[in-house]
Amino acid sequence: MPMKTLLVLYSYHHKNTEAVARAFAQILGAPIVTPQEVNPAELAACDLVGFGSGIDSGRHYAPLLALADRLPTVSAKKAFIFSTCGAPAFGVTRSFILKNHSALREKLQAKGYTIVDEFGCPGWNTNKLLRFFGGLNRGRPNAEDLQRAEDSARNLEARMGDPGQSLPLDVTN
Ligand SMILES: Cc1cc2nc3c(=O)[nH]c(=O)nc-3n(C[C@H](O)[C@H](O)[C@H](O)COP(=O)(O)O)c2cc1C
Repeated sequence: MPMKTLLVLYSYHHKNTEAVARAFAQILGAPIVTPQEVNPAELAACDLVGFGSGIDSGRHYAPLLALADRLPTVSAKKAFIFSTCGAPAFGVTRSFILKNHSALREKLQAKGYTIVDEFGCPGWNTNKLLRFFGGLNRGRPNAEDLQRAEDSARNLEARMGDPGQSLPLDVTN
């Protein structure tokens, strides 16, 4: 039976995270819904749920965090987390991304989700005074970022389809 996947996305600043979500959606054959649209019953029927947004104040956007608070408790459900953030690209390291994801990760884990992957990349940021200078990370996510997102999606798909492969992933690299 094909894997049933859903992406829950909140992206508004420059639709940066939407571009990443579309890359995942194309590979995983997954619909994209907003936190406002998502139906908890729909989530319960999924094998894998991706949760993603831009970053505000070092965490995912408030509507996505609020959804995580509203979710019913699940048992043995798999999820992955993604984001784009506006920090200067050289600072968007794996550990910076994981730190930005902490609040959402903790909420999802508290609801019973196993986090099987985390993806992040820089996104164009014209917040506040940055807009007067053209912003930071103009052009991001770029083709290379989206290629990495597609590769992550393919990797997820391969591991989800092969019960012999251990989950969750080591997300510390
Ligand atoms: C109100 C606001 C607050 C932000 N706060 C942060 C932040 O704390 N850290 C960060 O790295 N980027 C921050 N950003 C930049 C966004 O996370 C970044 O531009 C992201 O790619 C936007 O994603 P979106 O286009 O999908 O909404 C902020 C942007 C806005 C509009």
